[in-house]
Amino acid sequence: MRVVSVVSTKGGVGKTTVAANLGGLLADAGVRVLLLDLDSQPTLSSYYALSQKADAGAYELIALNLRTPAQIISRTVIAGLDLILSNDDQGRLNTLLLHAPDGRLRLRNLLDNLRLNYDLLLIDTQGARSVLLEMAILASDLALSPITPEMLAARELHRGTLKLLSELEPFRLLGITPPPLRLLLNQVNAIRVDNRMIIRGLRKTFAGATNISVLDTVIPDRVAYLNAASLGLPVHRIETRRSRERRSPSALETMQALAIELFPKWREAISTMTRCAEAQ
Ligand SMILES: Nc1ncnc2c1ncn2[C@@H]1O[C@H](COP(=O)(O)OP(=O)(O)OP(=O)(O)O)[C@@H](O)[C@H]1O
Ligand SMILES: [Mg+2]
Repeated sequence: MRVVSVVSTKGGVGKTTVAANLGGLLADAGVRVLLLDLDSQPTLSSYYALSQKADAGAYELIALNLRTPAQIISRTVIAGLDLILSNDDQGRLNTLLLHAPDGRLRLRNLLDNLRLNYDLLLIDTQGARSVLLEMAILASDLALSPITPEMLAARELHRGTLKLLSELEPFRLLGITPPPLRLLLNQVNAIRVDNRMIIRGLRKTFAGATNISVLDTVIPDRVAYLNAASLGLPVHRIETRRSRERRSPSALETMQALAIELFPKWREAISTMTRCAEAQ
């Protein structure tokens, strides 16, 4: 099971949108996906309707070490896409983890029960620095960080997400390697010169970096992502073709390119799913 956390210390950059749509696309490609909503505002938990709701969720998993799948895992209406709901509306988990000796390592130590049933665990996190966020990163093989192409977001990246990752470096002494970071440009308007300049600048900054890279795939700023959220559907199902007047790729093409770039071993399943999506 691959573990990917969607992270950023900045709010509103598209973490939940990416987690929901990447999870939805991969599930449609036949990958067994489990979403874990670690944001105390349960946006991801309410993105897809549920076909079966578990009594417990992220709180019981993290605070009480409850690992029985039937008790903590809900099923969404998207086949192959399951979810551990956020049910920590008072934000108690953070305080609890702060005072627990195993706090930042707790999730990492809890995943064995899930490994056999899923190919991918996709974790959505809160847009602020917290112990919970550090715990999610330390449990991950890869950290995926959406960033919007604005100057202030680029600055916050250095102050927030990159600083956080560098502060997790001492975990190497315990044999725990912090995951590589992939930056994903989101809400890109390819026509705007400032967007293009910021993207070029980011690519240049991280060209020689070892643990950080900027993904080739960018997600355009498109109303399809808002519509998909309102309909509770993965965006690739509602925008399968690019329109003639538009220059940017369709949501299906974008999400497929992103999924293949992140998970090249599932390339075949992802690229052959075009037919399924178009057939709907
Ligand atoms: N590529 C896109 N095009 C258009 N709108 C988008 C795109 N990506 C995200 N949005 C919209 O931007 C808003 C913020 O996105 P989202 O909730 O995914 O961000 P977030 O990082 O999870 O925020 P938070 O930090 O509050 O959890 C939402 O209304 C979402 O629909
Ligand atoms: Mg969110």
